[in-house]
Amino acid sequence: MTVHFIGAGPGAADLITLRGRDLIAACPVCLYAGSLVPEALLQHCPDGAKIINTAPLSLDEIMAEIATAHAAGQDVARLHSGDLSVWSAMGEQLRRLRDLGIPHDITPGVPAFAAAAAALGTELTLPGVAQSLVLTRTSGRASAMPEGETLENFAATGATLAIHLSVHVLDDVVARLSPAYGSDCPVAIVWRATWPDQKIIKATLGSVIEVTEGARGRTALILVGPALRAEDFAESCLYGADYDRRYRPQSADSPWSEWSEADE
Ligand SMILES: C[S@@+](CC[C@H](N)C(=O)[O-])C[C@H]1O[C@@H](n2cnc3c(N)ncnc32)[C@H](O)[C@@H]1O
Repeated sequence: MTVHFIGAGPGAADLITLRGRDLIAACPVCLYAGSLVPEALLQHCPDGAKIINTAPLSLDEIMAEIATAHAAGQDVARLHSGDLSVWSAMGEQLRRLRDLGIPHDITPGVPAFAAAAAALGTELTLPGVAQSLVLTRTSGRASAMPEGETLENFAATGATLAIHLSVHVLDDVVARLSPAYGSDCPVAIVWRATWPDQKIIKATLGSVIEVTEGARGRTALILVGPALRAEDFAESCLYGADYDRRYRPQSADSPWSEWSEADE
């Protein structure tokens, strides 16, 4: 018996890996985080599967369901939205499974930040503009931010920020980012990326509060940084015609020519 943690993706039912889909289809028990996981994914469950929405359950109740499946020798598909490596509450479940000696594995999913970037039609890292992406959030009722992980500190780097779980405190986000980025820094907010009611607003730190007035919904990602609007950036050396690289050595003397042949 194994508990399969599966990244369910950002919303669209076809944005799940083939492995994730096949695992859902093979498991007689499915626990899904109903607040964000698309119900359409549950169509992959086999006939007669026990399907439980864990949104109203406590961690103890979730673990009790897993223990019951374990005792019956039944595999469990455990679905969380996006990818499991960020804000999935998987860590605490893994710790309990390790303590109980229950086997488990993890299948990654498409995270919300990648879905939002795709919806915007943009790359979040551009040569010479931004080479780092910070996935962050602001303090919530359930989770305080560790000291040092402040928006001000991240803004000081000039990196692209993908701010989760924070659209309801947009005023505060803008106030904290503006000193470092400036009021003309581009901002994009993507609500429910890849869902049928996806909505996008593009603005600047100076205009975003006015532009989004009346916009509703908490499932949104705030993307901030110069890379969002940059057109004036250098092309990557990687594909430059004269760039000497392993897959395209420029001469017989290239340090890559011997290495690439030996590596074939
Ligand atoms: C609990 S976190 C889950 C993150 C998820 N594990 C991931 O990989 O993206 C929920 C937050 O992620 C963001 N989010 C999740 N799905 C989204 C979507 N489809 N569009 C925009 N933001 C989304 C929102 O900021 C939301 O408040």
